[in-house]
Amino acid sequence: MKNQFLKGKKIYLRDLEEEDLPNIQNWLNDSEFTRYLFQGDRPSNLQIMKEDFNKNLKNRNEIAFAIITSNNVHVGWAGIYEINWISRKGELRFFIGERKFWKKGYAAEVVTLLVGYAFNKLNLHRVYGGTNIENKGSIKVFRNNGFFEEGILKEEHFRNGRYYDVIRFGLLNKRHLKGKTSY
Ligand SMILES: CC(C)(COP(=O)(O)OP(=O)(O)OC[C@H]1O[C@@H](n2cnc3c(N)ncnc32)[C@H](O)[C@@H]1OP(=O)(O)O)[C@@H](O)C(=O)NCCC(=O)NCCS
Repeated sequence: MKNQFLKGKKIYLRDLEEEDLPNIQNWLNDSEFTRYLFQGDRPSNLQIMKEDFNKNLKNRNEIAFAIITSNNVHVGWAGIYEINWISRKGELRFFIGERKFWKKGYAAEVVTLLVGYAFNKLNLHRVYGGTNIENKGSIKVFRNNGFFEEGILKEEHFRNGRYYDVIRFGLLNKRHLKGKTSY
């Protein structure tokens, strides 16, 4: 359990490392994984991924994590992106790459950890995220974590030969704390 930063029950989050990129490349080249994602429109190239990774290492406006199971398997990545330190907001993104690890409660736990981190360590006021309206798993993860539906972007995303609506979710720090005091 190297470099655990945010610790959950089933998974923990640690800093994303360059050595994690080949797994991510693998997942991004799987069309079932990217079925509802903005990524996956072209083959992922490891060299370009490494360059982007290294370019973003010093970007203080995004914080990326590897998702590791309690028995040390790298199953996905997640993070807070587009952090705006004046409006104190950031976008949550999360991906469980290995299909055999879907529906085990991992993403739900990841989002709980990220929300607690965003509100209680980074002092963000608002977190938000969006997903293809047919991505039932992702929608459930937002809803189960107390996010509110903020709107629907009509025909926002072209994939699989058609346009899809995208649903946006948000959560305010104060609203969240009203119902839950455990963070
Ligand atoms: C969508 C995704 C994040 C869900 O992750 P996960 O770890 O399987 O989700 P969880 O196990 O925490 O599930 C949370 C809830 O959603 C449900 N769920 C998960 N995947 C589902 C699916 N494909 N269809 C219907 N429900 C689903 C779970 O059963 C669970 O429901 P419950 O709270 O009633 O028990 C994961 O499948 C994934 O990363 N997919 C590919 C990339 C992606 O779409 N990322 C999200 C971008 S916004």
